[in-house]
Amino acid sequence: MHTMNAPAESPALDIAPFVDRRARLIARMNAAGGGVAVIPTAPERPRNRDAHYPYRFDSYFHYLTGFGEPEAVVALVAGASPKAILFCREKNEEREIWDGYRCGPDMALARYGFDETWTIGDLDQRLPDLLADQPVLWSGFGYDPAWDERVTRALNAVRANARAGTVPPHSIRDIHAELDEMRLIKDATELTIMRRAAAISADAHCRAMRFAHPGVNEYQIEAELLHAFRSAGSQAPAYTSIVASGPNACVLHYVENNRTMRDGDLLLIDAGCELDGYASDITRTFPVNGRFSAPQRDLYQIVLEAQHAARAEIKPGAHWNEPHEAAVRVIAQGLIDLGLLSGSLDGVIEKGDYRRFYMHRTGHWLGRDVHDAGEYKQAGEWRPLAPGMVMTVEPGCYVRPAADIPEHFWHIGIRIEDDAVVTDNGCDYITDGVPREIDEIEALMREGAHGDL
Ligand code: GLY
Ligand code: MN
Ligand code: MN
Repeated sequence: MHTMNAPAESPALDIAPFVDRRARLIARMNAAGGGVAVIPTAPERPRNRDAHYPYRFDSYFHYLTGFGEPEAVVALVAGASPKAILFCREKNEEREIWDGYRCGPDMALARYGFDETWTIGDLDQRLPDLLADQPVLWSGFGYDPAWDERVTRALNAVRANARAGTVPPHSIRDIHAELDEMRLIKDATELTIMRRAAAISADAHCRAMRFAHPGVNEYQIEAELLHAFRSAGSQAPAYTSIVASGPNACVLHYVENNRTMRDGDLLLIDAGCELDGYASDITRTFPVNGRFSAPQRDLYQIVLEAQHAARAEIKPGAHWNEPHEAAVRVIAQGLIDLGLLSGSLDGVIEKGDYRRFYMHRTGHWLGRDVHDAGEYKQAGEWRPLAPGMVMTVEPGCYVRPAADIPEHFWHIGIRIEDDAVVTDNGCDYITDGVPREIDEIEALMREGAHGDL
């Protein structure tokens, strides 16, 4: 059933997780002095003239609301009578004819589980009242100058009223620090979405493997990925897809994606979809002609074993850097064995010589943002892993041409990246739907029949 005001196709939103997150955030605020938090969503950004970049809500705001429209702010009042208030665009049939559906405050009240809703036009007038006599103002500062200015204006309006006995917040704190800690441990709803996002991305990588062959352009592979993402319901790529063949694989953030692939090339694809606000992040590297050459195989096997070693370290209680340290040891030893590095393993690690070939880290938190919220160190120490954390495991090896490197290794760039959920006793890869072992990749590519999908 739907009303005239609701778009017929919008699925019912389960608001319980959002209500629960707001309650948990308010509890954290209360433990830190109470106060009021105001969190805006992201602004729309012009691209050129009348065109805008595709709209993407702010990750913090959406985490707390599930509300996807621009021009919205959530306010959370802590203390003995907590309250969740949404400011959003008003209904406007004229604008809705041009730009689409607007929920409006009345509908948002029930549908999103708020205690109060107002139009966004009411914000500047109501914000000083919300801040008055509150001990702490919580927000995110330094991210959007327009927002900083708006909050400052409201704060000064409270200060200007001091002689009437109103007390302004004496403490201003970053709400992101509290939200980052919450976002680091994914709840059940989040894990369900992330598993689905990972499965869609894994399917997309399989599709790309089946489609690749010499003569195909990188952008055609990118098109296959986008097709797989969108046709499975994902809203967008979580980041710009990297489709890097041959020498391009050694450019870590290559995004031109416009080279025609040749027989003998490796193809490195780093691509993941975003689903309902959650990222996935997968990299696979495979030979365009379906068969790894001997040097490609040698280097690939080192990276694969590094990934296995890193994965084995992901368990509750292990610290953040242990998977990276394990991957570095395997890569450094492998490169010594192949003659690309010389010296002892400890010496190569201590001097950092391996960084010539492995210059990035082995992972990052993954969630609403592809490089997700959450500190990696606490009190100067690497943070221990805990169930519900989600991270990538992405060792790599990149060999650029140089006089001291045998030519058959030149231009080989390899990364293998999977997404791991820390469980009670280890970790779960949620990106297992796309092969990573050499014989499995070659078998899938044989199935491809050169582009027949
Ligand atoms: N795709 C971004 C990353 O792997 O970190
Ligand atoms: Mn990554
Ligand atoms: Mn990636």
